[in-house]
Amino acid sequence: MPSLNDIRSTFLNYFAKNGHEVVDSSPLVPRNDPTLMFVNSGMVQFKNLFTGVEHRDYQRATTSQKCVRAGGKHNDLDNVGYTARHHTFFEMLGNFSFGDYFKDEAIPFAWDLITKEFGIDKSRLLATVYHTDDEAFEIWKKVGVPEDRIIRIGTSDNFWQMGPTGPCGPCTEIFYDHGDHIWGGPPGSPEEDGDRFIEIWNIVFMQNEQFEDGSMKALDMQSIDTGMGLERIGALLQGSHDNYDTDLFKALIEASADVTNVDPYGDKNVHHRVIADHLRSTSFLIADGVMPSNDGRGYVLRRIMRRAMRHAHLLGAKDPVMYRLVPQLVQQMGAAYPELGRAQSLIEETLQLEETRFKQTLDRGLKLLDDELDGLADGAPLPGGAAFKLYDTYGFPLDLTQDALREKGREVDTEGFDTAMDEQKAKARAAWSGSGEAADNAVWFDVLDADGATDFLGYDTEKAEGQVVALIADGQQVDALTEGTSGWVVVNQSPFYGESGGQIGDTGVIRRLENRDDVALVEDTRKFADGKIYAHKVLIERGTLAKGEPVELEVDHSRRTAIRANHSATHLLHEALRQALGDHVAQRGSLNAADRLRFDFSHAKALTAEELASVEAEVNDYIRQNAPVDTRIMTPDDARELGAQALFGEKYGDEVRVVSMCTQSGSGKGSDGVTYSLELCGGTHVKRTGDIGEFVLLGDSASSAGVRRIEALTGVGANEYVSKMRNVLNALQLELKAAPEELVDRIKSDQTKLRELNNEVAQLRRDLAMAGGGSATVDVHEINGVQLVAQVLSGVTGKDLPALIDEHKARLGSGAVLLIADTGGKAAVAAGVTADLTNKVSAVDLVKAAVVELGGKGGGGRPDMAQGGGKDAANAEAAIKAAEAVLEG
Ligand code: ALA
Repeated sequence: MPSLNDIRSTFLNYFAKNGHEVVDSSPLVPRNDPTLMFVNSGMVQFKNLFTGVEHRDYQRATTSQKCVRAGGKHNDLDNVGYTARHHTFFEMLGNFSFGDYFKDEAIPFAWDLITKEFGIDKSRLLATVYHTDDEAFEIWKKVGVPEDRIIRIGTSDNFWQMGPTGPCGPCTEIFYDHGDHIWGGPPGSPEEDGDRFIEIWNIVFMQNEQFEDGSMKALDMQSIDTGMGLERIGALLQGSHDNYDTDLFKALIEASADVTNVDPYGDKNVHHRVIADHLRSTSFLIADGVMPSNDGRGYVLRRIMRRAMRHAHLLGAKDPVMYRLVPQLVQQMGAAYPELGRAQSLIEETLQLEETRFKQTLDRGLKLLDDELDGLADGAPLPGGAAFKLYDTYGFPLDLTQDALREKGREVDTEGFDTAMDEQKAKARAAWSGSGEAADNAVWFDVLDADGATDFLGYDTEKAEGQVVALIADGQQVDALTEGTSGWVVVNQSPFYGESGGQIGDTGVIRRLENRDDVALVEDTRKFADGKIYAHKVLIERGTLAKGEPVELEVDHSRRTAIRANHSATHLLHEALRQALGDHVAQRGSLNAADRLRFDFSHAKALTAEELASVEAEVNDYIRQNAPVDTRIMTPDDARELGAQALFGEKYGDEVRVVSMCTQSGSGKGSDGVTYSLELCGGTHVKRTGDIGEFVLLGDSASSAGVRRIEALTGVGANEYVSKMRNVLNALQLELKAAPEELVDRIKSDQTKLRELNNEVAQLRRDLAMAGGGSATVDVHEINGVQLVAQVLSGVTGKDLPALIDEHKARLGSGAVLLIADTGGKAAVAAGVTADLTNKVSAVDLVKAAVVELGGKGGGGRPDMAQGGGKDAANAEAAIKAAEAVLEG
């Protein structure tokens, strides 16, 4: 009997053999379809190939696509466990043609695979076709299906649409007749909803595109999209009518029986089935980056997890059990989906954390539920207020309460629940609009209220499609932003990181899907409304961007790569500093930009050259170890217990993201011997430390009292810096003709030499001046009994004058000196009076008189020595005359 793994391989191999590219399943979070909560069929990742917007180097593909149908339009959650074929997670096998083959090949491919490769009895098979599709009818006849087993269906059952808009077309479906021991009729008959005739394969002839205004257009090319549920075909090939009877599900159900110690196939079987199904959807969602939260995709995940946990509780489990089933799931499906094994520890930790937390309120909530029911009339619905209290206080998602009531044949007053929810929202709104800061943010809370939180996709992707939910200009919501204007754009999901935790916001572009030439440049991304709304600050470069439009968002890749490297290097730097300087080192601030990183930390002294070198070497050592960078979600307490570095003064929610970097050599300083750096962090990081490339520490400086600041470069920036420095060094070597290690001594000795030469030149200048050289006029005469030396000099500066004055004074013994230096048109003047005469005449008066003539102002000093200056050296003679006049009295 073929296992599900065998069947999946047979399918993919069959189409590979027939010229199809085997393409990996896309992640469950649709990056190219913002209207979808989760990928729910194989064609989602190929949507743009059908419409001709995108081209790849293959025209035929085959996949086994992970699908989740829980939340949104296709929601199977409520039925899971109670029926034979409902799942929250399933695998869709498909083959696709993009303008290559069409009906006449697609039908024989399918027929050949199921009748020959799978060996299904032809006499049990039926086909349906769209009522006007004679072509498909004829092809079925040709492959050998009798006419009476080809059924024309006139309803939308045989016209497949991926959504309200997008590629679509008539389809043909293959049904299997399980035999008359089961009730039910063929498709199209009044008994078609019975379980006897089961659809196993849907083949869609993609030939139209549906538009928002209701019109439908023929596509340029005719394509094929097919979907066959692996679980269904698996049940059939394993001789069963129930998907949960297949090898894979049995293994999971038995694992659930093992950890709960409850018979797998007795009356508690339904609980095991719920657990087996939900284990798959939760594990795959976590592996694809979804984390439990209180809104959006994260809330759907939480609902599934908690529903499973209630069923584990019904099996009597006292401790968390879901996480203990993960190894079995990885064993079953890890080969086909390697992402499952890679995320195993994250999945286990996330499940265990959620289960531990939910257990704390589950018992009390269930007790409250019982008490409420006791007080109700027979069969009366549970009041909405009670359901809301279970939701709000005990963390019971509404569908969990409904699931619990289902066993008792009761329902919830959902209208009452909605009313209670609305009232609470109104209260919360009143509370925030009362506080000043929040009032400024009113517009962002309006957006949050109307459209919910932005789904951040940027941990896993840099490109995604989204739908514009709000546009803001000048603090107001607007319907459109026109070409050349600036504003903020909010999209329902975005790969752009919003500035936080020291990491700057992403930049990039937003394109209109309708016309990709219409581009908005994203200059920054910020988070508003308690960090729940991501807003892109844009300049509309071309076209108009309107609310409601589908767009493609693309982060500037090289800038983000550089930011990532800097952020991860900051974590390594933090730990290296602790290792080098001690445990008192704590982060006081950081900046992770594209071109550099900055890290502020508590430490009193400047780092020595040796400390800087050893920190830089240690960071580079960890970069070279190329260790994986892991992300996990846990409670803040658990994180601290593990030794995570938390940010000083930061407030954390119920759950924190923990980023760890390990050492491969086993020489890590963590308690486990391998963890090197462990920090609470919401930022984006490299996959492996080697991606940082290189780390160059620029230096440290004082930031504030007791806080040092280090600036550093990584990756390309570090390389460029090293190149620049090498060029500087080479130029210096060439210029000074010295080896690198001699350069500093050479420069020092050259500087000393230069200083000595400068002194020598100054002395020579003075000697020359004293000897009368360079002097236009030398004049020594007596005025009013005072010997005066008055001289106009060139070739000396104002700085030389005091020494010259002193020398003249010494030579005179008793007298006054006035020196004017002509410094290229401008004039410096100095006067000196020997000590015996200062009571008679002041050098200050002499200078002041001279300065006026030189076109200057002021001048001053002491009675024995004064200085000043002016702009007209040409008036030097007049200045001397003015000084003489002072002496004359
Ligand atoms: N896209 C088609 C389906 O989901 C094959 O049924």
